[in-house]
Amino acid sequence: MRKKPRTHCIGILTSGGDCPGLNAAIRAVAKPALDHYGIEVIGILDGFRGLVENRTWPLESRSVSGILTLGGTILGTSRDKPHRMPMGGKVLDMTETIAANAHRLGIDALVCLGGRGTQKNALHLHQAAGMNVLTLPKTIDNDVAETDVSFGYDTALTTATEAIDRLHSTATSHNRLIVCEVMGNNAGWLALGAGIAGGADVILLPEIPYDLDAVAEHLRSRRRSGKRFSIIVVAEGARSREEAEAESRRGRKPGAKGGRRKGSGPARKSAGRRSARADDELVDEGTEVDLGAPTMVREPMASRLARQLQRLTGTEARVTSLGHVQRGGAPTAADRLLCTRLGTKAAELLARGVFNVMVAVRGERCEPVSLEKVARQRKLVPLDHPAIASARLVGTCFGDR
Ligand code: F6P
Repeated sequence: MRKKPRTHCIGILTSGGDCPGLNAAIRAVAKPALDHYGIEVIGILDGFRGLVENRTWPLESRSVSGILTLGGTILGTSRDKPHRMPMGGKVLDMTETIAANAHRLGIDALVCLGGRGTQKNALHLHQAAGMNVLTLPKTIDNDVAETDVSFGYDTALTTATEAIDRLHSTATSHNRLIVCEVMGNNAGWLALGAGIAGGADVILLPEIPYDLDAVAEHLRSRRRSGKRFSIIVVAEGARSREEAEAESRRGRKPGAKGGRRKGSGPARKSAGRRSARADDELVDEGTEVDLGAPTMVREPMASRLARQLQRLTGTEARVTSLGHVQRGGAPTAADRLLCTRLGTKAAELLARGVFNVMVAVRGERCEPVSLEKVARQRKLVPLDHPAIASARLVGTCFGDR
């Protein structure tokens, strides 16, 4: 016999950068909600913006059929924040509008699939507008706290590793250095995982400021020992010791707001009142928005590093920046499985009326964890992580002395 649900209608949205597995997760929430618990499901388009602009889509079981293997998100996504949303050239607080529209649609709880920013935005809707929310951890960066892993990470890891494998054969043939930049602005999980799995000779993470001379010396000593090529895997947010020192003088810690590199996110015409960073910008309400130049005009950090290493080692260097390739395509089997576990657990919790939590992976189990706790932290690579120790034992250099 079907249990009577406590929740009658849920809204579901995807927010932040897309990643493989979002559709698998939408399906895993919606199918049991609709078919098992008798909960109505409303798809919200383009993240939180869809609730502001009333762009929604009633989901039926057949709307989520056949999407398990699809990359991207059928709902569309955006990096819009409820409380700082660009609207008609201004940045406005749309929290109340979102809450009112959700109420009008009869939404009892809002399911938000996203990374760190989304966790914080969902918590904001709960705290500032009393909305019931439930989140799932999604990000190729794997930096969402309180969960063993986030979905999307395994697929990006696989894609990046395959790319590094391919770089190996060409680097060997030409006796070159190849610097490969992977995503990860604050957390180096992807660089660490793909670097180890791809057999990189040097791995540079945002968490371990590198010493350029130490990296160059490692490459020169490989050459002296007869290995004439090297692969350097670098996270987009990796920084030199000097940069880290300068940042800490300015009061910025790794993983904190206000980093220098991320080029995405709108620039502010009325800059000066507060600083801005795409992940977590401080922008006053009413600030005018200028979308500025596309992100890829910035020089990938890998290019600068390749130039420096070519000069210091006398070995020809080339650069590959994997960019959004890492976020595209079909999810791996591991991610499909993870999304199905997380999504179905979410549906079960919603049916029981458990809200304001994130569904986390803890070993073999999926469990609700406090959203407040999740939103408060970023999961960085600990310097004593066993994978770093293992990599060092097989001769990988992390750019530290
Ligand atoms: O979603 C995480 C992420 O892929 C980061 O690794 C990267 O720094 C950022 O998104 C890129 O964002 P965008 O697609 O908005 O340029």
